[in-house]
Amino acid sequence: MLSKVDPVKTKSWQKLLDHFAEMKSVHMRDLFANDQRFNDFSFQFEDILIDCSKNIITEKTKQLLIGLAKECNLKDSIDKMFSGEKINETENRAVLHTALRNFSHDPIYVDDQDIMPLIRDVRKKMRIFSDAVRSGEWRGYTGKKIKNIVNIGIGGSHLGPAMVTEALKFYGSEDIKVDFISNVDGTEITEILKNLDHEETLFLIASKTFTTQETMTNAYSVREWFLRNTRDENTIKKHFIALSTNKEKVEEFGIDTENMFEFWDFIGGRYSLFSAIGLSIALYIGYDRFEEMMSGASSIDEHFKNTDFENNIPVLLALISIWYINFFGTDSEAVLPYDQYLHRFPAYLQQANMESNGKSVDREGKTLNYSTGPVIWGEPGTNGQHSFYQLIHQGTRMIPADFLVAKEPLNRINKHHKILLSNFLGQTEALMKGRTIDDIKDGTPYKVFSGNHPTNSIIYDKLTPNTLGKLIAIYEHKIFVQGIIWNIYSFDQWGVEYGKQLANIIQNEMNDGKIPESHDCSTKGLLNHLMG
Ligand code: F6P
Repeated sequence: MLSKVDPVKTKSWQKLLDHFAEMKSVHMRDLFANDQRFNDFSFQFEDILIDCSKNIITEKTKQLLIGLAKECNLKDSIDKMFSGEKINETENRAVLHTALRNFSHDPIYVDDQDIMPLIRDVRKKMRIFSDAVRSGEWRGYTGKKIKNIVNIGIGGSHLGPAMVTEALKFYGSEDIKVDFISNVDGTEITEILKNLDHEETLFLIASKTFTTQETMTNAYSVREWFLRNTRDENTIKKHFIALSTNKEKVEEFGIDTENMFEFWDFIGGRYSLFSAIGLSIALYIGYDRFEEMMSGASSIDEHFKNTDFENNIPVLLALISIWYINFFGTDSEAVLPYDQYLHRFPAYLQQANMESNGKSVDREGKTLNYSTGPVIWGEPGTNGQHSFYQLIHQGTRMIPADFLVAKEPLNRINKHHKILLSNFLGQTEALMKGRTIDDIKDGTPYKVFSGNHPTNSIIYDKLTPNTLGKLIAIYEHKIFVQGIIWNIYSFDQWGVEYGKQLANIIQNEMNDGKIPESHDCSTKGLLNHLMG
């Protein structure tokens, strides 16, 4: 069981409150009078440099935050997660996405069963299958090679693979195109199917539960479309694959379990991209590269598990973010990749972070009196600069931001990368320093920038599968650390489940054509309007 420490009642929290009273009027410009700051607050892990020096922190802040992590038993919680304890207590499940990328020979037990052989078997099956499709050994029912992969899934069964296949497009097959159908809005399915030759298309029905309304509706409509073309149920086995934990439902849909790639309830949906849910990635970039991504994530897992908090990257990023959320009162964080390949990274992190830490009840079941997960948002730089950066620079809110960029571009064209890098540096420096009225020749107050806006600069040598794996794991563990300190359960999502139930109830009412009095007058009015 995870311990249940109320962070607000720790000694460190009180000390942090006192420290905040000293720090709230400190400007980073003054902190940077110390030339050692970059050395003190930047961390290199293999090919990734993380500079946290442009934050309103001192060595004392760091030590107090580490004290908080210790008082909240973070180390013990990390060990419990890695060893397969059922730390997702509200669902009575272990949390073992780290086992998916574990290549050691050590066993990991869940309910007295070593789960590593299960994971290895699925990895092997994924390798064989993706090799067969990519080489043309696996063909469609008319003998044509597979040229299109369509992943049908939503939430964690969509956002991870969609983000990664975009991020690693540089390494992707030129002969295979990957599409995603997630929205139940018939427009998405219509537009995607329009351009597909069913004889050359493989559909991956990606759903942990195989009951999610949107995914199953899309899957059945695609199946109908496919059978309208082939008029033969036997053709399904060459074109439909299931990625799921639910054998029964997969069979009920008509997919042979031989065409099912399994995962388990100890893998959370939003943490599942290294499981069978990542099959679209393996098909697109090849299984070896998929494993390179896993080994990147695995190296961060080892770092997270074994490094003292002083130098532990996910821990420090989580603590700095807590400093702003719980003491400065910030409520959102921007993720700003200066890397077009990472354009879906903020959307992926939105689910990972907000579905995990968007909680307001603690592990004792008590309503919280402090803030938890922030709103996560972002767009690639430099596009964001011409859109919302104005508000970050001169608005009334403090919005901590992560800036990400590659030292070496994958596509070098003229001076583009130098311009990109100079924008990255120019923005982070301006956000830190600001511009005072004395710096402005005409003394216009509208041109004053307060500065003191915190940023982390994350610079990787080059975007490789391995690097991407590391970035993913850094953010996963940051979320974990915050959930532990906030004393919440990060691995359930009851809020979303309730929304699903309500939609089902209303759907039945719409089918019956009867609107019960129990709805509020707005919902009744809207239902009348829609059904009229
Ligand atoms: O959005 C709620 C949720 O349960 C997510 O946690 C999950 O990733 C998504 O639905 C899809 O669920 P499934 O993979 O079971 O279809």
